[in-house]
Amino acid sequence: MTLLEKVRLTAGNDMWSTCALPQYGLPAVRMADGPMGITGGRVDERDVALLTPCGLSLAASWDRSLVRRVGEVIGDEALRMGVQAVLAPNLNLMRSPLAGRAFELFGEDPYLIAELGSAWAQGVQGRGVASVIKHVVCNDSETNRRGMNAVVDECTLRDVYFWPFEVAARQGAWAMLTGYNRVNGAACAEQGRVLTDWLKGDLAWDGLVMSDWFGTRNGAASLSNGLDLEMPGPARHMGTALLEGAGADTVIEARVDDAVDRLVRLAGRVAKPKKYEATAQAQTHRLTVLEDAAAAGMVLLRNEGALLPLADEKPGILAIIGPNATVPCFQGGTFAKVALSSDVTSPLQALRDRFEGQGKQVMFAQGVAAEHRIPPLTALALLTDQGLPGIDLFFYSGLDEPAVHHEVRHASSLIWFKDMPGVGNLLTLDCEATIKAQTHFAAERSGEYRFYVGGTGGVALNVNGQCLATFDGVSLEADIMGKLMQAPHTTVSVGLEAGQKVELEFEMRIARSLAHGLWFGCQVPQELDLLEQAVALAQKADAVVLMVGETADAGLESIDRATTHLSRDQEELVRRVCAANSNTVVVLNVAHPVDIVCMEEAASVLLTWYPGQQFGPALASVLSGDREPGGRLPVTFARHEEDYPVWSLTPAANGDLEYHEGWWVGYRSFVARDIHPAFGFGYGQGYARFDYAPLGINGKCVNDLEVEISLSNISSRAGKEVVQLYLLEPQKEGLPIRLSLKAFESVHLKAGAQQAVRLQLSADAFSRWDAVLNRKVLVCGRYELLIGHSVDDIAIRLQLDVEKGGGVRTP
Ligand code: BGC
Repeated sequence: MTLLEKVRLTAGNDMWSTCALPQYGLPAVRMADGPMGITGGRVDERDVALLTPCGLSLAASWDRSLVRRVGEVIGDEALRMGVQAVLAPNLNLMRSPLAGRAFELFGEDPYLIAELGSAWAQGVQGRGVASVIKHVVCNDSETNRRGMNAVVDECTLRDVYFWPFEVAARQGAWAMLTGYNRVNGAACAEQGRVLTDWLKGDLAWDGLVMSDWFGTRNGAASLSNGLDLEMPGPARHMGTALLEGAGADTVIEARVDDAVDRLVRLAGRVAKPKKYEATAQAQTHRLTVLEDAAAAGMVLLRNEGALLPLADEKPGILAIIGPNATVPCFQGGTFAKVALSSDVTSPLQALRDRFEGQGKQVMFAQGVAAEHRIPPLTALALLTDQGLPGIDLFFYSGLDEPAVHHEVRHASSLIWFKDMPGVGNLLTLDCEATIKAQTHFAAERSGEYRFYVGGTGGVALNVNGQCLATFDGVSLEADIMGKLMQAPHTTVSVGLEAGQKVELEFEMRIARSLAHGLWFGCQVPQELDLLEQAVALAQKADAVVLMVGETADAGLESIDRATTHLSRDQEELVRRVCAANSNTVVVLNVAHPVDIVCMEEAASVLLTWYPGQQFGPALASVLSGDREPGGRLPVTFARHEEDYPVWSLTPAANGDLEYHEGWWVGYRSFVARDIHPAFGFGYGQGYARFDYAPLGINGKCVNDLEVEISLSNISSRAGKEVVQLYLLEPQKEGLPIRLSLKAFESVHLKAGAQQAVRLQLSADAFSRWDAVLNRKVLVCGRYELLIGHSVDDIAIRLQLDVEKGGGVRTP
């Protein structure tokens, strides 16, 4: 290859593919976003895919083999959709409960993240699809994500934040993606310390490193520091741009060769695209995996008087209350939004299917309105001009009629990268084009309808031919993907009579741009007495399932949260319903730690996270006891907001975000400060009860150590236990204590059964990064091994002396 041919390969070809060089037999690698499912190239409602539970839900299962099976489902879906590399999993750390992308993450502990994240990636790669591990490194928050500079000491960086990536690399990940942020002054895409010294040097990792989307800033600096591929294409900073402009003379051909080798290796590793159809049996299997996983992640936080499982034999009224019963939050609101199949069952329907006809009468009250950032327009019964369901979308080149393209769509957010149908290449557009989205609906009830509209060009909203709102297009500078997801907008209210016919038109001007987006919504008027209806239903019910939480546009990329509280209306609903009925199960459909003070009176609290498309059936099976609530917390739920070791994620004016807690992130800090959380790390009840007894420590050296315990199911039903092992390191004068998770096993045991459980430890558990020696060193001294149900509920304590050279002795 010539140098020109080679440099071309260092940038993508388009939004989701790498460049091909057919004359050398090098095909393009096609990518798609993840992690909850495969988003098709158009990233919209037309590419329907399976939706798995979110990262926190999978992490809550603490079950490597189950998480691996979910990865296999993702791999199969990728093959079906012609995708060879999935941009997932997200192995960053939840430092603060306010993290906007918390739902994607695997929690607050690097060991748990590494174990389960790698299991997921192995599942995907087992199918011949690359799992692109993201975002190297410290992309743990969203506020000013492109300007943020994580200020973190090197030992913490290596031992905590880099650890999940280190394990993924050791286990043979094929590719990684760098963060938008900077770390200790250098952009992630230019992090020579991490990319070149650690990943490719120390670990001799042979995979490919690509930038986050539009995340490359300086091509020459990125290439020389270890970035192999700028994404997306066409090239802006790398590719042929490397040979032009400033820095061109610093481009080292050997580095280009290495980047090309890595791309060629990736293309060789992934499965060739081929026609792929899942059999009905395979599809059923996948849905079962997703349902098992959703249930395995559900954490039973409280269960007073053994209210759960809801006994089948008890007749009476089962009240289902709350907005999330009918408008559940299946997934988060990042770019990687998955289009759901229309036959997905709502939780309300699934609970009806499970409990009705068993002598129970299932009744529903909404309680409060669902609180979307932009209530989807598609929740209305929209009709095209021809009277078909949907929205007419017309594309005009210049201002000329007729439209150059027409399609019928069913989405409340429309996005185009590079190409727009009929209009052409947005990057080179030389006239002003227009799009018009038109639709009709009839008002269901009288009242104020609030319309939402926003986009990347100037937008006008016409209601029945009258312009009622305009919006100046939002600039995509700074954070293209973030801006498209934040969807800035304006709103306008219109009074409508029940039955009144309404014609809506959203018209947007299109100019040259990297991308365009148009989004719209409508909040319909609510009945005034929703809360009172819910309380009245709770009063007459025998038991209540109260479903509260978030909407699918709550967990966002590019924005962190402001609070851990549910909305005031939802907290009020929880208080009132719990006061009205003492047999209330609060089902929390959130994917970050929340304040649970309003749930004090609830008999049971079940945390579901964002459980993916099998939410309904999985929930019904857990509430009924057909399945275990298999989850244990991968994050701490504090009693008070001020107890969290990290709260604000807002960087200083210069962009610095101090990782002031150092090694003591999450539960490590609660333990070191002796602060008792509401629900600690690793906590969660099952329906069964377990007893622990020590059996011994096998092995003579840190490299090959096994702690054996005997686990007994002392209850009358089968159940799951997550056996957790924490190490308390030799205490250093004047420093907070260091206690952290080092091993765990998920065990399923029949009623009354007993089993030996072996927990493996390796030298990693006893080693730390030494920034002066530039390598890991063994920490010798007396360790305590704490084994139990959770970090706050330890059943067995053992001691172990680690000697120079790695020998171990039990004192
Ligand atoms: C996100 C990545 C994602 C990429 C492609 C970025 O904004 O940070 O996680 O994979 O977009 O959609």
